[in-house]
Amino acid sequence: MKKILSGLLVCTALMSGCSKGSTTPSFTPDCSGAAKSFSRDVAPVFHSACSGCHTSFSTYSQIFADRSAIRSRIVDGSMPQQGSLSDAQKNNVVCWIDSGAPNN
Ligand code: HEC
Repeated sequence: MKKILSGLLVCTALMSGCSKGSTTPSFTPDCSGAAKSFSRDVAPVFHSACSGCHTSFSTYSQIFADRSAIRSRIVDGSMPQQGSLSDAQKNNVVCWIDSGAPNN
């Protein structure tokens, strides 16, 4: 597990209402649009929806390294905790990962 806010670690340790993935239907991405760009499409999503808790998700290399876990957490709806992404935001991240997660 990567660096996250300590208060959330307490929440995780207690395992009380911290998980919301089990009943969320899995997201099916639509990657028919233009190829996704890390700087234009992906980084803003992490900045607004993830970096507040995951300080590690603020650089390309760390997002790239964790892309497989990130993809599954977005598709199963378990991340972002205490929030949600629009379908367009999910498509941006998932389609970018599926295209090889380029640093573009
Ligand atoms: C409100 C705080 C919060 C936000 C916002 C949030 N997360 Fe998380 N995230 C957590 C906590 C707490 C855990 C550890 C508990 C767990 O695994 O469910 C976690 C775990 C994860 C994990 C598995 C562990 C790891 O680092 O590989 C991934 C991947 C992840 N989050 C991705 C994301 C992504 C992508 C976003 C934005 C779309 C996001 N999270 C937004 C709190 C948050």
